[in-house]
Amino acid sequence: MEAAPIKVLMVCLGNICRSPTAEVVFRNEVSNRKLEHLFDIDSAGTGTWHIGEKPDSRARAAALKRNMNMDSLRARAVSNEDFNHFDYIFAMDIQNHIDLKTMEPDRALANIELFLTWPNKKEGRGGYQEVPDPFYSGEDGFELVLDLIEAASKDILDHIVNKHQLV
Ligand code: 4NP
Repeated sequence: MEAAPIKVLMVCLGNICRSPTAEVVFRNEVSNRKLEHLFDIDSAGTGTWHIGEKPDSRARAAALKRNMNMDSLRARAVSNEDFNHFDYIFAMDIQNHIDLKTMEPDRALANIELFLTWPNKKEGRGGYQEVPDPFYSGEDGFELVLDLIEAASKDILDHIVNKHQLV
């Protein structure tokens, strides 16, 4: 019997910049290692303003330059069910983490973690403990988001593969 997939949810505020970027980057890393059949990957926002929208055009352009396509994604809000459906919920910044812990139902199963510091990078990556919100930044902000998310995704995938003895 196939093992149940590891379910991973990436979360930011709007679900149009950082978390959809994390969704495609993490999926790309999983696919590079030929582990697609072992993962279920999604993203959502703690805010509701952008529900139904495609990712921000600047996020899509930056991802496409690195050969990742975000066109099919649409923003959605975090739901109550997410806290028992997903094994891991990764918050892009500290406020997202606080908001998720506030929304979390009693006895929820998901591990809710800060993306850039989990599992063993308390100091963060390159001095960043949070993925900076690029919404009001220029294109450079989106490159930084991708750099931070790519580095964290590799480490997190290494850790999950080891922990769940996936290979
Ligand atoms: P995200 O960026 O949380 O990375 O998707 C934002 C997008 C929109 C807003 C804030 C952050 N907003 O306030 O509309």
